[in-house]
Amino acid sequence: MAEMKEAPAGAPLGIKMMTWLDNRFPSAFQAYRDHMSEYYAPKNFNFWYFFGSLAMVVLVIQIVTGIFLTMHYKPDAANAFASVEYIMRDVPGGWIIRYMHSTGASAFFIVVYLHMYRGLIYGSYRKPRELVWIFGCAIFLCLMAEAFFGYLLPWGQMSYWGAQVIVNLFAAVPFIGPDLALLIRGDYVVGDATLNRFFAFHVIAVPLVLLGLVVAHILALHDVGSNNPDGVEIKAKKDAQGRPIDGIPFHPYYSVHDTLGVAVFLLIFCAVMFFAPELGGYFLEYNNFIPADPLLTPAHIAPVWYFTPYYTILRATTDPMVNMLCVIVGLAAVLNLLKGRGSMAVKGGLLIGAVVLIALMKTFDAKFWGVVLMGGAVIVLFFLPWLDQSPVKSIRYRPSWHKLVYAVFVVAFLILGYQGTQPAAPSGSGLELLSQACTLIYFGFFLLMPWWSRQGTFKPVPDRVTFSAH
Ligand code: HEM
Repeated sequence: MAEMKEAPAGAPLGIKMMTWLDNRFPSAFQAYRDHMSEYYAPKNFNFWYFFGSLAMVVLVIQIVTGIFLTMHYKPDAANAFASVEYIMRDVPGGWIIRYMHSTGASAFFIVVYLHMYRGLIYGSYRKPRELVWIFGCAIFLCLMAEAFFGYLLPWGQMSYWGAQVIVNLFAAVPFIGPDLALLIRGDYVVGDATLNRFFAFHVIAVPLVLLGLVVAHILALHDVGSNNPDGVEIKAKKDAQGRPIDGIPFHPYYSVHDTLGVAVFLLIFCAVMFFAPELGGYFLEYNNFIPADPLLTPAHIAPVWYFTPYYTILRATTDPMVNMLCVIVGLAAVLNLLKGRGSMAVKGGLLIGAVVLIALMKTFDAKFWGVVLMGGAVIVLFFLPWLDQSPVKSIRYRPSWHKLVYAVFVVAFLILGYQGTQPAAPSGSGLELLSQACTLIYFGFFLLMPWWSRQGTFKPVPDRVTFSAH
């Protein structure tokens, strides 16, 4: 047993209590030191570094409001819609809990998209933070699953038909598809069994995984240390005590700093929650105020805004698009054979792989490839640490035209998102071509990154972080 510490004689009661606790639960005190008072974070954090703690705040809001919603919600196809209306009208304070949860869902995605964008521009996913990023991508996948399962619960028209569309996508998987869709639904149509299992996933299974991943995300980050807007490793320069010269303790400096971010965030959050909880149909879709009706398909089924970029990628994958992809795969393999690095055996192998892929693309339905591209759009993020070959991390020291590449990517992503909120573009129309072009830009950005990220003249990276106290 470790030696017991003694509070100084005559010490205030608070100190005595802390000493008593420290003797019995030293790991809690050690964790506080490791992650708060002695975690040295770079001193040049900017606006973009608010979103990690904001994501944690939203996570807490969702869990707490979710617990209260569960007290009155009924996961039963005959009662679910009415139980949500009951929460909104009859349960004291029910409306605010429900609006906090529905606004929180969209806020979560806004915060997490901005958090990921920060990682993208400052190269936070690069060595030694690959695992931090991979845990983040897994969190993003879980978040999408969580939002999808939760959306079925109010049992409105959009809940019902949205789930119908997405579960049916699994039916496009060759050979096992129809059985897989049946397994997910638990019935031949979305029904009571589906609602029950989605409830189980939404309230316990996915949140548990999500919480575990968030803990892993933060632990991994604190092991390697935070990146910063300059992309300079602060651990490379330490003082006599072994503390990074450009680091400041997370508490109190960033705990106070983040409080400002949380205050501003909560102001905006409350403004939306109190004055525009539906946000023009983006946060709560109008069709979802109509109870689910299996006999009445809505004219226009659209997912909630945070899924729409991926939904557009799915819809953009038509037969002509698949043909275009075949041409691109073929050309890439030939180009690699003629100009690529590596041995002839590897190049030959890649060429054979491309031929097999083209044969598969022509064999299976375009709908299936739409599903593959939609999933691939998220999966590709996992590989970012290895796709980016630039000699510097932060956008600040990259060639200026790299900023343009990022800007084109962001605009393409926003266009994909907007188009997903609109009815499907007529086949062969300019709008459909636009969504196909944006899909190609999205994938081109990532898959060509090993090439373009190395091009251009890079600016010298300073030894120390750049910072001027205001
Ligand atoms: C529930 C969702 C999430 C929570 C609660 C969360 C929390 C945090 C926190 C508290 C930090 C440290 C503060 C900061 O750097 O902002 C952080 C850093 C980081 N997160 Fe997340 N995160 C989440 C999702 C994600 C996702 C989806 C990704 C990427 C796909 C991601 C990638 C990163 C990276 C790369 C860092 C290190 C940033 C740096 O040091 O520059 N996170 N996260």
